[in-house]
Amino acid sequence: MTQTTSAPAAPQRAEWTGQLGFIISAIGSAVGLGNIWRFPGVAYENGGGAFLIPYIVALLTAGIPILFLDYAIGHRFRGSAPLALRRLAGKLGEGIGWFQVMICVFIAIYYTAVLAWASSYFVYSFDLKWGSDAAGYFTGEYLQLADEPFSMTFVPAVLIPLILMWIVALVVLGAGVVKGVQRLNMIAIPLLVVGFLILVVRALFLPGAAEGLNALFTPDFAALADPSVWVAAYSQIFFSLSVAFGIMMTYASYRRRRSNMTSPGLVVAFGNSSFEILAGIGVFATLGFFAHQQGVAVADLEGLKGVGLAFMTFPAIAAQMPGGEIFGALFFGALTLAGLTSMISIMEVILAGVMDKFGLTRRRAVYGIGGVLAVISVVLFGTQSGLTALDTIDNWANNIGIVASAVVMTITVLWIRRAGTQLAGHLSVLSTFKVGRTWLFFVSVLGPVVLGYMLIATIVNLVQEPYSGYDSGYLLLVGWGSVALMIIGSIVLTAAPWRYDPDRFTPWPPVPTRRVSGVTGAAATPAATQNAAGIDEENAR
Ligand code: ALA
Repeated sequence: MTQTTSAPAAPQRAEWTGQLGFIISAIGSAVGLGNIWRFPGVAYENGGGAFLIPYIVALLTAGIPILFLDYAIGHRFRGSAPLALRRLAGKLGEGIGWFQVMICVFIAIYYTAVLAWASSYFVYSFDLKWGSDAAGYFTGEYLQLADEPFSMTFVPAVLIPLILMWIVALVVLGAGVVKGVQRLNMIAIPLLVVGFLILVVRALFLPGAAEGLNALFTPDFAALADPSVWVAAYSQIFFSLSVAFGIMMTYASYRRRRSNMTSPGLVVAFGNSSFEILAGIGVFATLGFFAHQQGVAVADLEGLKGVGLAFMTFPAIAAQMPGGEIFGALFFGALTLAGLTSMISIMEVILAGVMDKFGLTRRRAVYGIGGVLAVISVVLFGTQSGLTALDTIDNWANNIGIVASAVVMTITVLWIRRAGTQLAGHLSVLSTFKVGRTWLFFVSVLGPVVLGYMLIATIVNLVQEPYSGYDSGYLLLVGWGSVALMIIGSIVLTAAPWRYDPDRFTPWPPVPTRRVSGVTGAAATPAATQNAAGIDEENAR
């Protein structure tokens, strides 16, 4: 990469203190709402025990390979998603990076709302405030949902925790990568694991727990013939592992240059999936108890996933259980901690992007950009219209935004830029677990094909049937409108000038690259070889 402008070189990048800080922070990002409230319901609806087959296939063929791809790009090109992808694939790459940032903008705005609800319910658990009608309490007394999709009436019980959650997130982010993000994860993740293990063990001893586990794990092998089951498995893995929307790329950019990348990646991926399966066991053991109390089968229960599971079914169960106060507090405490550490990682993608591009200090980025997002989030979700907007944006950001980002990123990086050999070399030179042709096949062939199919299937579905039965005009505005804003945002941000020259950079270590258009890739230039010998100051670190 050569110098193209007269802009100065970027300042030094923040770094995790070591391997543990990196792994714990990446696990903190991966383990989130997706594990606790999404996985159990998705698994149950898509073949139960048989779902573990597509789930594991998706983890091995797309989750881990794309996690490694994110790591390789972020670590080799040492930047936020727009900067790292720009260094690798020029303006097109930068545009994809900004698209990933924009996905995070939309997710951050609603994710914090769920955190706010979880933190309220953590406090409410101690006197089971929702009483005997948990579902009615949630939509009525708590959210005070309006009939119309847009309402500007604020709901204080949501507004106050929402503002508090934003303050906590921004203070942590303002303290920096090590003193804020890493420190929070070092405290929150062990607490989360211990608290959640207590919850699962308690759940397993409830009467009816075995029926719940049977409902979750009894395999329905016929489901494997249904393509939508496979689509569900791949989407679950993506959201849950935090891949393809900038998070793992940004976190990898804070890793020291001379670092093993793939082995920590395996720890993160298997740690995340173990937590997910643990959550499935805990949630379904509890649902088994609930069904047992009511004298019905688990299959006859309602509200087995997402918002309904967490804020209607679980509170109803806690209200019927001896010691339900503690059980509820453990569940909502875990949801809050898991969500907070993921939320921080989502925000870090945005902040790192603007800091890299505009040369803002962390403080300015956090309180300026973070402050603006907080206001938007509070206006949208502190009001009576919260739930519909949240559900719609969540669906479009995840099922269209993240999947599209993965398809376009893999095609650009591996087919157009043909950087597969270079990235595989980067991972293998530095790491103990080597990657080669199999990895390249998964990220460059299977990934784009499977994900491209998923994307088209989802778009056709959304066009044919209004999502969740909502008004089509509303879905056009909020759902498709969000995706349009993500694209417009990424074009505008790509066009803005850089504060520091993004191309004044040499990737390290030098690794063989494929020949592109008759010239050998930058990584094998003499300059890079010199750097390997320790001449360049930054590379020698
Ligand atoms: N990976 C995060 C989650 O599962 C975003 O919620």
